[in-house]
Amino acid sequence: MTSTPAFPSTAAAGASAAADQTDRLILAMARDEAGWDDETLIVIVDDETGALTQEALLSARSGAQPGRPVLLWNASRSRSVAFAELHADALGSGSLRIGGIDGAPTDLGEMTAGAGGEGPVVVLMRLPKALAALDHRAAELARAAGAGAEKRALAIVAGGRVKHMTRTQNEVLERHFTDVYATRGLGKSRCLVATGPSTQSTGAAQEASSSQRKLAIRGQQRPLQLRGIGGVFGGASADAGSLLLLGALDEALVADAAAPAESGEREPEGLMAVDLGCGNGLMTAYLAQSFPGARILASDDDLDAVASARATLAANGLERSGIEVTWDDSISSAPSASADLVLLNPPFHEGAAIDATLVHGLLDAAARVLKPGGVLWFVHNSHLRYRHELATRIGLTEQAARDRRFTVLRAQKRAAGDAGPSAPAAHGETAPPTGRASGEASASDQSSASGERELTLGEQLDRARGN
Ligand SMILES: C[S@@+](CC[C@H](N)C(=O)[O-])C[C@H]1O[C@@H](n2cnc3c(N)ncnc32)[C@H](O)[C@@H]1O
Repeated sequence: MTSTPAFPSTAAAGASAAADQTDRLILAMARDEAGWDDETLIVIVDDETGALTQEALLSARSGAQPGRPVLLWNASRSRSVAFAELHADALGSGSLRIGGIDGAPTDLGEMTAGAGGEGPVVVLMRLPKALAALDHRAAELARAAGAGAEKRALAIVAGGRVKHMTRTQNEVLERHFTDVYATRGLGKSRCLVATGPSTQSTGAAQEASSSQRKLAIRGQQRPLQLRGIGGVFGGASADAGSLLLLGALDEALVADAAAPAESGEREPEGLMAVDLGCGNGLMTAYLAQSFPGARILASDDDLDAVASARATLAANGLERSGIEVTWDDSISSAPSASADLVLLNPPFHEGAAIDATLVHGLLDAAARVLKPGGVLWFVHNSHLRYRHELATRIGLTEQAARDRRFTVLRAQKRAAGDAGPSAPAAHGETAPPTGRASGEASASDQSSASGERELTLGEQLDRARGN
């Protein structure tokens, strides 16, 4: 699983961002190879350390054209907001524009094309890990350079560590630019320079990858199209953890529908369901089909995920009023206590390292948006432990499914004023079993203590809506 990289702590604290070796090479090659001078419009893509933005702002301030803004675009909303806080003065004075902030376009190509001026453009960036992300960025930039009546000179200077660079990266850039070459190295870093936007470039709209699969919706197997744009988690593929979650949720909904007391009211008016960290929109599309009259809010910190989820909904004919996909960090713009149902398959990795704490902010977000009685469905890697985290933050927690790789937990938001478990005892976290265990729900965290029977999913949703 992937994650959004944390904003560098030095930059977030307002200290000078320290350029690493790759940054230093990108900056040097932008001047030596791409001809960065006072006339140049600088566009920075996904500034990892903050040093590229800092250097570009310094240069713009001392240059002959101090009015020209530096453009910064990050796929991550949380990073964009952190940069906006760090460079509030530059943003306020107009010397910095950040994609998606203060009215600037969220689209990289649109922001670049709309920046005005006719001088050359130099783009400073790292080579993204995902080739699809490189392809998407290059397509957008090529399109932006060709957007005017005449082509605008645009050069991409993309740096990386030599051990992570492959010939395929050149080939990807060559789909969109006529001249691509590697620069001299600095230590273990090197840059690719791409110039001359190609008339053959397909443009970003055609860059989505696609897949098709079947998914059980209320017990019926239905075809589902998935779309992946840029660096979205998993591309257009269906994540195995999300599939386990959706299978268990669907079984619960089917079982609920069969219960006599529940018949006739499977999707009451005003149900609000959230796909938190929606990625390519697999779970959003499930919600849209399984709850055709519900309000559905899908949200992700990654702009490529937002574009992918929208494309997935469109590919399945599921766009309708009441379904919204937003670019947001931890669903911060959604009102508190508004959701009956939240689905969450969070990131567990920061680079190669497993970081269980990445999930806590998203669990807090789920706890905030759930109504009392609302339900969180959560999937995690089976070798990690989350039951106590859910019981503490949300409430009554039980295991809904488990296989060798993933565990699905279901947690019901406790009523306001209910303090939740006090002792850090996450009862009954089961040892990894070998097969699917839907319905084999082990001891839930509070039900035994309270003596209450467990509610069916339908009852939980009814309670969340105050019925
Ligand atoms: C493991 S992926 C799951 C994606 C999708 N739900 C699926 O089932 O394939 C986790 C997703 O959470 C998103 N994410 C990470 N941190 C986030 C945050 N603070 N706010 C919103 N989304 C976040 C990532 O961009 C990624 O798309």
